[in-house]
Amino acid sequence: MLGDRIISRINASPQRRITFAQFMELALYDPQDGYYAKKAVDIGAQGDFFTSPHLGTDFGELLATQFAQMWEILGQPVPFTLVEMGAGQGILAADIIKYLYKNYQSCFQALEYVIVELSPGLKQQQQLLKGLAADKVSWRSLEEIADNSIIGCIFSNELLDAMPIHLFLLENGQLGEIYVSTSNEAAFIEIVSAPSSPRLAQYFDLVGVDIAQIASNGSYRSEINLAALDWLSTVAQKLQRGYLLTIDYGYSATRYYNPMRSQGTLQCYYRHQHHNNPYINIGRQDITAHVDFTALERWGDACGLQKLGFTQQGLFLMALGLGERIAAISSNTGDLNHLLQRRDALHQLIDPQGLGGFGVLLQCKGLTSQEISTQPTGLSC
Ligand SMILES: C[S@@+](CC[C@H](N)C(=O)[O-])C[C@H]1O[C@@H](n2cnc3c(N)ncnc32)[C@H](O)[C@@H]1O
Repeated sequence: MLGDRIISRINASPQRRITFAQFMELALYDPQDGYYAKKAVDIGAQGDFFTSPHLGTDFGELLATQFAQMWEILGQPVPFTLVEMGAGQGILAADIIKYLYKNYQSCFQALEYVIVELSPGLKQQQQLLKGLAADKVSWRSLEEIADNSIIGCIFSNELLDAMPIHLFLLENGQLGEIYVSTSNEAAFIEIVSAPSSPRLAQYFDLVGVDIAQIASNGSYRSEINLAALDWLSTVAQKLQRGYLLTIDYGYSATRYYNPMRSQGTLQCYYRHQHHNNPYINIGRQDITAHVDFTALERWGDACGLQKLGFTQQGLFLMALGLGERIAAISSNTGDLNHLLQRRDALHQLIDPQGLGGFGVLLQCKGLTSQEISTQPTGLSC
């Protein structure tokens, strides 16, 4: 059992504790029993949660339109490399590749599609993509991609929210870190002690948040995603010329670390139920936290990534033609149930309270000033 193995790991650790980030890494990515290591992760309409690609091909098709335009802006490079990070079941990859094949043949000819997926269990991707432009798709680890080699776009949908985060507690003006330990009474208990790394305190300088202010109403707990910053440093090194597109749920730092949000954003998903107890259903539930987009922008800046724009998914997709797709449904004469379902799916993609409220951050590297001035359509709303 994964829970027992985590307990043994804690017992063998100095001071019999591990950081929450270590706990979350084991619960999600233990190669044997972690949530994302399972043969078929339960993502989708009937699963623990669903993502935009599960609502039909539109999300992938509109993204494909954006990538085809990026290819034009970059001067039609060959190869044009799309690196999808954390591709899950591979649904999005299939939608993008098919749409480029049907509608943007020249871009498709130049395409090289690389999937970087941490979970060995998600070989579903290979099944789904088998036979679909097999010579165009490859699987690599981030380390296997040479520095300064990618001309194209590195992108992700709901990747960063699944990265292991550190938990902190602010009390009486003091920054403490929440560690996971064990006791006789409960398998897992939280204990608070000095931060495991000076990077936790430095993080607040990076994002320009005054911890004395956010904790002025008493104790305050939340998360810090250092793994996202490390990922950004590595990804920036891989990119020679092109874009980094990040889609996820999250906030700017001032909204994230708002005094009102005193319990953070950690959520667990198990069979379409969500709750905030990460210490149950170990290896069987997803654990996530919102993304701090200010941190990505500022850390990206330090890594040579220039911010081109930040918008919401709803606006991004509307700019790329989702409105026309909704309008076309009314003039369509087909099976009514199917049309209503599709209309509902498209509305979900742009619902500001749901997927439509996700953040879309576009950064770039190595572009000429003329290329920078040609704004990708998705940012035009
Ligand atoms: C929430 S799922 C999203 C899946 C997919 N992008 C979608 O939209 O349905 C997160 C995915 O990211 C993968 N992942 C997490 N950390 C990763 C990393 N550092 N590198 C590559 N993949 C990662 C997980 O294994 C999982 O497949």
